Amino acid sequence: MALDFASLARQSGRDSSSVRVPKGPDQPDSRVIHTLGSDELRQPARRVGKVDEATRDLARSMLRSMYAARGIGLAAPQIGEALQLLVIDLDPDEAANPPLVLINPTIHASGGELCAYEEGCLSIPGVYLQVVRPSRIDVSFRDAMGRPQRRKADGLLARCILHEMDHLSGVLFVDRVSDRSTLETELADKGFDRDHVRPMT
Ligand code: NI
Repeated sequence: MALDFASLARQSGRDSSSVRVPKGPDQPDSRVIHTLGSDELRQPARRVGKVDEATRDLARSMLRSMYAARGIGLAAPQIGEALQLLVIDLDPDEAANPPLVLINPTIHASGGELCAYEEGCLSIPGVYLQVVRPSRIDVSFRDAMGRPQRRKADGLLARCILHEMDHLSGVLFVDRVSDRSTLETELADKGFDRDHVRPMT
């Protein structure tokens, strides 16, 4: 998984260098991240038409907001932009490793095992719960320069891409949690209303 991410990051390094911002929590222009209960999180996101400087500006803004909140992934709807754009950085403390920018991502196949792993989300701060997802994916997308890319991913990277892609359909990880009683306890503890969950099972 680490190797996969390293090679993927290397390959995309030149492209994403055009949107790189300094890492770290001290960000001058971070945006407000919407939280569970906000309608913004439940809107389906539109495909990005032309990838241009405005798209890259949005990606930079998302990266700043993600680093400020100490996250490893962010989808555009989380800052109120209903567009199919994701940023991911599994190495937010490693200045040399470039982030990933995925525009209009599409899953072609998923496989491997179904794995349960604890997830969190910047839109549901403080809540961490087990979610089952496939361990491997094959994903195509456009990079920050608008060029088509297709990659296989597994481990944490695959999970992170699937989690962020859910945001593009208005789905949140809590919708996928099967342990309802733990979910309700966690949400109540962190001050969230369970009525904002839309269970998928
Ligand atoms: Ni999330």
